[in-house]
This record gives sequence, C-alpha cells and structure tokens, in this order.
Amino acid sequence: MGLRSVAGIILHVRSPLLNINHACQTCHKWPESELKERVEIIQQRIFGLRNLAMDALIDDLKAARAAGMADADLAAARDFQRRAQFLLDFVEAENSTGFHAPQEAARILGESIDLSRRGQVALRDLKGKPAVRSAGTEPPSGVRVP
Ligand code: HEC
Repeated sequence: MGLRSVAGIILHVRSPLLNINHACQTCHKWPESELKERVEIIQQRIFGLRNLAMDALIDDLKAARAAGMADADLAAARDFQRRAQFLLDFVEAENSTGFHAPQEAARILGESIDLSRRGQVALRDLKGKPAVRSAGTEPPSGVRVP
C-alpha cells in the first residue's frame, strides 16, 4: 500500500489513490473509478473552501496598508488574520485535502473564514471592533470535552 513505518508511525510514502485496488478495495467494493470519483468530489469541495479561506482577508489587509492605514488600526485585523491562517495551515498540513475527515476539515475552514470576515469588519469599522471569538472552539457550558 506504499506504507512505511518511521519510529512506529505508519506513513504513506505515496498516495494510496495510486493503488486503489490494493489500498481501498479490501474494504470498499465499489468500482475503482467510482471510488476515485468520490474522493475527488470531496477534495474539490474542500479545496474550494480552502481557497475562500486563503483569500478572505489577506488582500484587504494589503490594500489597507497600501492606503496608509496605521499599524495600530491594522492590529485587530492582523490578529484575526493570524488566527484564520493558523486554522487554514492545520487543514493544509493534514495533506489529504480534507479526504481523511471531510466534515472536520470543513468545520475548521468555516471557522477560518469566520475569523477572516471578522477581520474585514475590524478593518471597515474601526470604532466598533467585534470581540475576538471563535465559534465552536469553546463548548457550551455543561458539556465536558474529553
Ligand atoms: C479498513 C477499511 C477501509 C479502507 C482500507 C478504506 N476505507 Fe474508505 N471508508 C471506510 C469506512 C468504514 C468508511 C465510512 C463509511 C460510512 O461512513 O458510511 C469509509 C468511507 C469512505 C468514503 C466516503 C464514502 C462516501 O460517502 O462517499 C470514501 C470516498 C472512501 N472511504 C474511499 C476510500 C479510499 C479511496 C480508500 C483507499 C485509499 C479507502 N476508502 C480505504 C473503510 C475503509
């Protein structure tokens, strides 16, 4: 399956999609072409969200700086941008374009986009900066997180 063990951790040394018969059809009895298509649909959707997340705030920050906005006024939006970027990088580093856990990848990218939108609001409404809050990262009271 193109797997290698490094320090006890099993790694793919090449994409398992290059050998669907061996890597996937032990469990999935769908035809190879259908399996590949399902993976590609998931990855296209996640890639679209990833692109939205990536472009959401950075250009506005560049434009605001180019227009001469002071560092102090840019600070809140930059903070949102760093938080948004951290979440985006997390999904990127996982390296399956969402395939391993599509719902979780979409959740994280949704939070990233939310932070970027808050950053845009911070740029446009310098008098009333919204509070820094990331939806979903804090459990509702009474919910125990393992
Ligand atoms: C050890 C068994 C196993 C192997 C090996 C495996 N899968 Fe899966 N796969 C699962 C299970 C279990 C699910 C979850 C099924 C569910 O939620 O209905 C799943 C879900 C999926 C789904 C989502 C189904 C959908 O809704 O379209 C896709 C696509 C998929 N696998 C593709 C692959 C591919 C491609 C490979 C090879 C790289 C692979 N799987 C290898 C067990 C496996």
